Order: sequence, then structure tokens, then C-alpha cells
Amino acid sequence: MNEEELFRTARLLVADHKGLLAMDESNPTCNKRFARLGIPQTVEARRDYRELIVTTPGLCESISGAILCDETIRQKKKDGTPFVQVLSEAGIIPGIKVDSGAKDMAGHPGEKVTEGLDDLRDRVREYSQMGARFAKWRAVITVNDRLPSRGCIEANAQALARYAALCQERGMVPMIEPEVLMDGDYSLERCVEVTEEVLRTVFNQLYRQRVNLQGMILKPNMVLPGLNCPSQEDVNEVADATVNCLLRAVPAAVPGIAFLSGGQSCELASERLNAMNMRFKSRMPWELAFSFARAIQQPALEIWLGQEANTMAAQQALLHRARCNSAARRGEYRAAMEFEQ
Ligand code: 13P
Repeated sequence: MNEEELFRTARLLVADHKGLLAMDESNPTCNKRFARLGIPQTVEARRDYRELIVTTPGLCESISGAILCDETIRQKKKDGTPFVQVLSEAGIIPGIKVDSGAKDMAGHPGEKVTEGLDDLRDRVREYSQMGARFAKWRAVITVNDRLPSRGCIEANAQALARYAALCQERGMVPMIEPEVLMDGDYSLERCVEVTEEVLRTVFNQLYRQRVNLQGMILKPNMVLPGLNCPSQEDVNEVADATVNCLLRAVPAAVPGIAFLSGGQSCELASERLNAMNMRFKSRMPWELAFSFARAIQQPALEIWLGQEANTMAAQQALLHRARCNSAARRGEYRAAMEFEQ
């Protein structure tokens, strides 16, 4: 492994107030989103949609990297150019989701453990030969009065660490995603408690598996009250709870933290990221960025609707969200930007 190259890629992914575009929805998830909008759930429709994304002009001004899934990394533009090449030529680093999904965890009702370690070394080698320079693995943690269990946190943390070690062995930057799910009626304080325990366990495992923290990106949830919690804290309270939790749990050697959006509205995700960067500017040892799927793609998808005639308008909407989130990284996002498309 060329360590310097690994560190450089990790730094590049969070440099220049840019963030990541997650477009690695599994086929079932992508189909579900298409079905809701009456878009055909076919390989060709998924390809068309992904072509729309990767060919959006100007995307690289706000987007450093794009996360693909196994189907998409093998796809090409209509003119035959592989998506990986389209992205690389546009100055966007191609990445790949390598987990094979969160499965019911034996002996742990209501909890999931992410699978995909079998053959991972071979798959990482293949993806790296195809041009991917970073990878993603997502673990999900369910919260209620009783959950998460220690067993679930530990199993997921160890899998994340083993995945990360295999990526680094091949010179690929692991993007480590332990997601505390937003579903539920738990409080902001409960989310702080669970997120901190999960992150501490993940970093313990990373240390044990000899993962180099300078060559990774953390992709956590923002610290939020559950979606059904009656008290919903304001943007500044969420920003303070999130950054303070991260300051306690994430070592300074990590170059960047790129949040998932997790089901927040596009505007709230931008506002919260903005508040964090504004309020903690010089007090954070890492870059604080974004790696959104829904909160960056949803408006574009709702405009596209599977119709070629809507492509340019959809690309405009995608570009707009990318710019809003890049502004949020600088602490310069304003609600008025939403009317400036
Ligand atoms: P959302 O931003 O839609 O939560 O997706 C991020 C992601 O990559 C999930 O793994």
C-alpha cells in the first residue's frame, strides 16, 4: 500500500468545501424510489438516471467523490464511455459500496448486522482495477428503550474495522458508516448516548484491526431526536449536540467526517450542516462535510420522472443541492439560496 497516496485521497474527498454524492442505492432501494414516482423499475431506467447524475455539468465544483453500487460501476453512458471514466474525467473520485446489506442478526430480534466480508479482498481488488479509489460500508443501529444491544454494536463495529483494513491493504480509502437510524420516538439525549457509544466502539475496533485513521473517512448520522419524538430541537441545538458528540468520540487524526442525510429534508440537512460549520469553525480538528443520497438527489429524481425531456431541469436541481451543501460547508448557506435556482 502506498500510504501517502491513501492519505492524499482521503484528504481530497473532503477538500475545498466539497462533499460526496451517494448514488449507491441497491437495486431494491432504487426501484422502491422509482416505483413511488411511477418510473419503470428496469436496468435501463436505473442506467439512464445514473447517466443523468454523472453527466451533470459543473458538479465537480461542489462534489469531490461519487459512491456507486456494483451495477452502476459496470455501466456506461449511451455513447459507451464507462461511468467511472466520466466521473474521473470530470474531476470526481469514483467510489464503491462494498457491503452486501444489513441482515437480521441471529439472537438479536429487531437488530441488523451488515454482511459482505466473504471474498471482500477479491472484490476490493476488482473494484480498484476498475478505477474505484474509495469504498463504503454501512452498518445500521436501531434505537428504542431496549436497543441497541452491546452484541449488535460490537458485531457491526468489528465488521466495519475488518472491511476498512481490507480496503487500506489495497490502497482504497474506507468510508466507515455506522448509521444510528432516525426511526423512533427517542430523545436527542438518547441519540447522543447511542451515537457516542457506537463511535467509541467503532474506533476501538479500528485500532485493534490496525486501520490507519489518516486514511479513512467517517460517515455518521447527525445527532437528532427520533422522527416521532414530540420534542424536536432547533438547528443550533442539533448542531451543538452533534459536534460535541463527535469531538468526544472521533480522534483528530481522521481527516474528514461526511454526514449521511438519513431521511431529513434537503433544506434541514443543509441548515444543520451549515450551523455546525458556522458555530464550530476553528474548533474542529477534522473537515465536516456531507455524503448525502436522498437529501441531494430527491428533488432531481422528482423532476426527472423517467422522461428524457426533464433531464436538464433535473440536473439543475441536483447542482443546486450540491451548491447549497457546499455553501453549508463554508457556513455560508442561507434559506434564501433555495429561491435562487
Ligand atoms: P442518505 O443520505 O439518503 O441517508 O444516504 C446516505 C447513504 O449513503 C446511505 O448509505
